[in-house]
Amino acid sequence: MTTSVSSLFSAVLDPVNRHDPYPLYTSLRRTPVGVEADGTYVVSTFREISALLHDPRVSSVERDEAAGGSDDIHRLVGLPPSFLRQDPPGHDRMRRLAMRPFGPPHSPHRVADLQPSLEDIAAGLINEFPSSTVDLVDQFAYPLPVRVICTLLGVPLADEPRFRAWIDAALTAVLPDRGALGDLAQYLGDLVDRRMAEPGDDMLSALATDDGPDGRMTRDELVSTAMLLLIAGHETTVNLIANSSLILLRQPLWRERMLADPGLVVSFVEEVLRFDPPVQMLTWRRALSDIPIGGTTIPKDAPITLVLAAGNRDPEHCTDPDRFDPDRRQVQHLGFGDGIHYCYGAPLARLEAQLALRALVPALSGARLLEDPPQYRISAVLRGPRHLRVALS
Ligand code: HEM
Repeated sequence: MTTSVSSLFSAVLDPVNRHDPYPLYTSLRRTPVGVEADGTYVVSTFREISALLHDPRVSSVERDEAAGGSDDIHRLVGLPPSFLRQDPPGHDRMRRLAMRPFGPPHSPHRVADLQPSLEDIAAGLINEFPSSTVDLVDQFAYPLPVRVICTLLGVPLADEPRFRAWIDAALTAVLPDRGALGDLAQYLGDLVDRRMAEPGDDMLSALATDDGPDGRMTRDELVSTAMLLLIAGHETTVNLIANSSLILLRQPLWRERMLADPGLVVSFVEEVLRFDPPVQMLTWRRALSDIPIGGTTIPKDAPITLVLAAGNRDPEHCTDPDRFDPDRRQVQHLGFGDGIHYCYGAPLARLEAQLALRALVPALSGARLLEDPPQYRISAVLRGPRHLRVALS
């Protein structure tokens, strides 16, 4: 029998609970696989989420593209879906092509080579902090990943205010704004054309000119990929840095520990990804056939939501899960997902967060939160404070 979790899950989606959804997740886990009134299956326990992330009967492709109600921002503006929203074999081909200029084995140094610019960016932002109060989101956690993703892709930083406005309009509205997304696609298309004609040493140029065993991406695939990377680089790492900063401010012990032992930042960031992950749930899976799991059967075609953040605090998987403890023996977490869609940018996100926090900790001695809990972003999927106002001394 399948249990309804409708009212609980509505509470999770309700912005009034955004500051602390974790008690709701505890209740949700009592039904590992539950169903909502609209037929969506909500999965909240570690083992079941993990199993579904590795299950080829679970698809990431939009169900009915012909219906016009697309929730895939690429399709909305006539672009091919990014590899985030594709299944094999299309997903695997695009991911292989996108990986060649970014990571091992072909480009083992791309992320590591960003370290000096990353350190410069972090130090520059901290130098610009006013002496009394600072908003750690607007003045640190947001501009840092944006500058890094622009440096990586070869997107001129001077254009940032333009595409920030497009991305905001496209993603924060209740319904995606086609006009803003169209402008962003047009901008990236022009940039791709420029890089094809005159390649630089950035990643977009490498993607545009690469001739590997899979051939090249088409121009439209390139624009789709650039849009995915630009948005993923904008909207997730900001929350990892902000969620981490919030813990450092609430629990000064970790500031002291990190000052004494900077290497601690590695397990600190992993624990934030488990304890308060920026991507709380994945909402675009669908069953390709009946899937028996967790004492029920998800029927063919049913939409599936995987609540990664609930799985991360599953006591069956992690001892004393509601305690933030970077000293714990490392446990696997779902902060970057798992399976074939495991976060492509994870090595970069980790490095960014580690270097950002290492630079930030000394600047926070004596700092104090001015608003606790802070105001959160409206989204239940991408979790992070909208502002983090801090008195510096
Ligand atoms: C803390 C920061 C980040 C978090 C928490 C995060 C989280 C995730 C998660 C949970 C997924 C799985 C999506 C799914 O299964 O449907 C994912 C996929 C992805 N992420 Fe990230 N991400 C982060 C940073 C980044 C960055 C910086 C980039 C770009 C450089 C990036 C690029 C991607 C891409 C392209 C995918 C799709 C992979 C695929 O479908 O094969 N992410 N990310």
